[in-house]
Amino acid sequence: MTTFWSTYISVLTLGSLIGLTWLLLSTRKGQSDTTDQTMGHSFDGIEEYDNPLPKWWFWLFVGTLVFAVGYLILYPGLGNFKGLLPGYKDGWTGVNEWQKEMDQADARFGPLFAKYAAMPVEEVAKDPQALKMGARLFASNCSVCHGSDAKGSYGFPNLTDHSWRWGGEPDTIKTSIMNGRTGVMPPWAETIGEQGVADVSAFVLSHLAGRNLPDTAKVDVAKGKEIFASTCVACHGPEGKGMALVGAPDLTQPQAFIYGSSFAQLQQTIRYGRTGVMPAQHDILGNDKVHLLAAYVYSLSQPEQDEATSAR
Ligand code: HEC
Ligand code: HEC
Repeated sequence: MTTFWSTYISVLTLGSLIGLTWLLLSTRKGQSDTTDQTMGHSFDGIEEYDNPLPKWWFWLFVGTLVFAVGYLILYPGLGNFKGLLPGYKDGWTGVNEWQKEMDQADARFGPLFAKYAAMPVEEVAKDPQALKMGARLFASNCSVCHGSDAKGSYGFPNLTDHSWRWGGEPDTIKTSIMNGRTGVMPPWAETIGEQGVADVSAFVLSHLAGRNLPDTAKVDVAKGKEIFASTCVACHGPEGKGMALVGAPDLTQPQAFIYGSSFAQLQQTIRYGRTGVMPAQHDILGNDKVHLLAAYVYSLSQPEQDEATSAR
């Protein structure tokens, strides 16, 4: 803060305190007893007594003034003045408190994070203590979207199955978390028309996803197959098995669809397109924590190993 603003705030704050104190004392007028005298004016028959402030109110006000002065002496508040509270180099603030705790945690866990960061993700995924730390990081940073059990929900992928949009290799998982991912499914209504959307949805549902079509669907599945071959293979592949390079999901795994697998939901997805965004964690958590998270996420889809660890 520049000296000007610091002075401005200090003068304004102290001026208000002094002004309020003056107002409080000047309206007391030395009276101490209640009287029957009125102020002499009447509003629709309502008159005002000329009485002093109630004592409890007066002392409450004095208390808040004393508190304010005490607070401004101890804590930051008056411009650039940092407050006198001992032990705080830059004054007591919530941000400093938080930073102090974070520094302490880093000093305590930093070496442990660094140790795991130097190991390959697969190795870390076998370490029960690392997994416990990973689970905790997941709960506070990832569960809002992926769920506390990491099984995902509408719009957010399940991380415990074997169906990956971007790939399930340990290092690929780490890249997904570190740099984030943006999956872009373009909208198709304008290119293939409303009937085309219905036809290709029907083809995906009945031939790729292996689900039944609703009886009422008026569609030409053969047409849908043609549309798929000309329009969708570029990203979802000739057999609809997806392509990790662009995050195009495997359309033969409807249980892993994040936007729903009903005929209506498929048409909605194909008609308007979808954009799923996984936010990059690099600047938020840093390499060492992401490394642990990658190991934790990797471990979730390794059931054999889970059993092995819990049997131990
Ligand atoms: C440019 C590449 C590209 C093309 C072409 C493309 N898709 Fe997609 N598609 C994607 C991506 C990427 C996603 C994932 C979007 C996301 O994660 O938000 C996706 C998602 C989907 C989904 C949703 C799956 C889920 O998880 O709910 C369906 C269904 C789908 N595509 C079908 C099709 C069909 C049918 C066509 C052809 C008409 C097509 N796509 C063409 C890239 C493409
Ligand atoms: C704001 C919501 C959000 C948060 C927070 C979030 N994710 Fe995601 N994540 C997503 C979405 C959406 C996708 C799917 C992106 C796409 O459409 O391709 C995704 C995808 C992923 C993938 C790739 C899955 C695949 O099938 O390839 C991994 C791994 C992942 N997230 C891990 C994490 C971890 C670990 C955290 C915690 C640090 C986290 N995510 C936090 C929304 C989120």
